[in-house]
Amino acid sequence: MKLIAPSLLSADFLNLERDIEMVNRSEADWFHCDVMDGRFVPNISYGIPVVQAIKKKAQKPLDVHLMIVEPEKYFEAFAKAGTDILTFHYEACNHIHRAVQQIKSLGLQAGVVLNPHTPVAVLEDIIGDLDLVLLMSVNPGFGGQQFIERTYEKIRQLRLMIEKQNAHALIEVDGGVNTQNAKALFEAGADVLVAGNAVFKAENPMETIRELKG
Ligand code: DX5
Ligand code: ZN
Repeated sequence: MKLIAPSLLSADFLNLERDIEMVNRSEADWFHCDVMDGRFVPNISYGIPVVQAIKKKAQKPLDVHLMIVEPEKYFEAFAKAGTDILTFHYEACNHIHRAVQQIKSLGLQAGVVLNPHTPVAVLEDIIGDLDLVLLMSVNPGFGGQQFIERTYEKIRQLRLMIEKQNAHALIEVDGGVNTQNAKALFEAGADVLVAGNAVFKAENPMETIRELKG
């Protein structure tokens, strides 16, 4: 699969509706929403009311990436706000299996996110339960950072694990994705690419989305 999820973190918050409509009209597949609490990551972005507002205009699924401590406390609120795919960090949760079941019981697709330092092997016993694995290819917290090259190897390892176990999880990559590395990332086995700066700081965002899709 080759999906593109523009990250609204890099959108113009004064013209969010305009930017959402651009994504609606484009070849992009999902809206990626980055929620940060200033505790799990050293930055604060936006929360439930903003996701709710995005949902009113978005004509494609909302992929909500929680970069918060105690994520399970907020699953229900994000479900009510209109989330379709909900991901939380492995490093922020002691009971991954329970949290995944919680998300599924709310009727959403469930995904786990791994920081750059977390090996994919930690997912061996949960991969069959996941709809999605999000590999961070930068340290979470900010848009516009440089892609970490080691991510290619992690994509390949994860692809192997998914095939071996006959699992259905999609592989999503987030951070530093651009028109130079998108093709190689899909070739390595990624299914979904998140792109913030590459899309919203581009001269022609719709054309850039088309190029990212390849
Ligand atoms: C970073 C976020 C990303 C971010 C990506 O913590 O998870 O989704 O928006 O931004 P770029 O594509 O600019 O690296
Ligand atoms: Zn993200």
